[in-house]
Amino acid sequence: MQEKQSIHGAWANRWIFILAATGSAVGLGNIWKFPYITGENGGGAFVLVYLVCILLVGVPIMMGEVLVGRRARQSPINAMREIAVESGHSAKWSFVGIMGVLSGFMIFSFYSVVAGWVLHYVAGMASGDFVGIGSEDAGKVFNGLLGDWKTLLIWHSIFVVMVMTVVAGGVNKGLERATRIMMPALFVLLLVLLGYSMNTGHFGAGWNFLFQFDLSKLSWDAVLVALGHSFFTLSLGMGAIMAYGSYMPKKASISSTVLTIAGMDTLVALIAGLAIFPIVFANGMDPGAGPGLMFVTLPVAFGQMAGGQIFGFLFFVLIAVAAWTSAISLMEPAAAWLVETFGMKRSTSCVLLALTVWGLGIMALGSFNFMSDVTFFGMNTFDFLDFATANIMLPLGGIFISLFVGWFVKKRVNLDELALEENGLFYTWYISIRFIAPVAVSIIFLVNLYQKIAG
Ligand code: PHE
Repeated sequence: MQEKQSIHGAWANRWIFILAATGSAVGLGNIWKFPYITGENGGGAFVLVYLVCILLVGVPIMMGEVLVGRRARQSPINAMREIAVESGHSAKWSFVGIMGVLSGFMIFSFYSVVAGWVLHYVAGMASGDFVGIGSEDAGKVFNGLLGDWKTLLIWHSIFVVMVMTVVAGGVNKGLERATRIMMPALFVLLLVLLGYSMNTGHFGAGWNFLFQFDLSKLSWDAVLVALGHSFFTLSLGMGAIMAYGSYMPKKASISSTVLTIAGMDTLVALIAGLAIFPIVFANGMDPGAGPGLMFVTLPVAFGQMAGGQIFGFLFFVLIAVAAWTSAISLMEPAAAWLVETFGMKRSTSCVLLALTVWGLGIMALGSFNFMSDVTFFGMNTFDFLDFATANIMLPLGGIFISLFVGWFVKKRVNLDELALEENGLFYTWYISIRFIAPVAVSIIFLVNLYQKIAG
């Protein structure tokens, strides 16, 4: 029998899949969000919970997503339907894919705004705007940028076009080509910056901040943030990895590729932390500064240091590349779905999607200026989009995917796709996806909900 293929194409080999999925996983979540939420939640203990979430919840669910995508060889909405029907269940399971596409739009809209800040800083670093800048002035520059909706809009628009162009190129000429060029560049830049930060003389302080586990500092809120972040950083719960899995070679082993991807994503987050915190401490700044951490602290630090202009420039280029390869995967599931379902040309579908996320993004960037008084549950649009996706929709998507794969997909199908016998490895995964992942995510959810209600 001929192997089933996706109409969109296939990755050239297993390593391209690993790199593309790592490109999706490694993004603003690793380099912007992870350091600042770690800073806000006190460091080590938070990191420990995050690592546990990745291993116990993230890895099994990622295997589930890849499995469904690869078996169906279709976009998440259609894949969920097909695999549900194959195992004798309702076609309505496609709602998980639909919710994923919605989450993708919502994430894209605030993601693109932050990517826009990054592009602005790439330009600023290149033109030497931050040389010798003090922390007060750096704060003013960042706040000035937030207040300036026109500049934000320009960068947001540029980023949307960058992403659209790649996705419109298709799996091989777009996604795969971008992966081949950008991922090696990303690793090299990261290592260069790590080396740089090791020379600040405060590497030990950064290390201790990340790895001294003081569990007494941990709150339920922080556990929810860690859990939500493990979904966000691995691109889970919204179909990105499922879509990438649908282009994966049949011969490749799902368990080992997924472990590699999750391992690389975690490594990049930790290295980003190790590159950033020593610089923060070397300049006596506050690790808990919030979303502005990278945009205020680092320019000051780079502004003071020898070679800071060049390394600062490289640093922001690195983040821009990481954001780019991730945003591609935010658009791919919806693009593939429009092509499959309505026979649309890929380029047309990408233009439509780009317009949609561009419009949503304007609301997100307006949070800091012309729409600053619009709030949802006490949060501005930007914070709301981040909170609703990372802390609610992605974990919810994760619960549904784990229940689906664990309880509804036939065991035979799982064994088949994972290419495993009924051995210890299989049962470790099976127990995780049937019990540990859904139960853990649900408990954290409910406790948080209860705490919010109880005040
Ligand atoms: N994983 C990406 C990051 O860490 C964000 C992302 C989430 C991308 C969901 C795709 C899907 O920045």
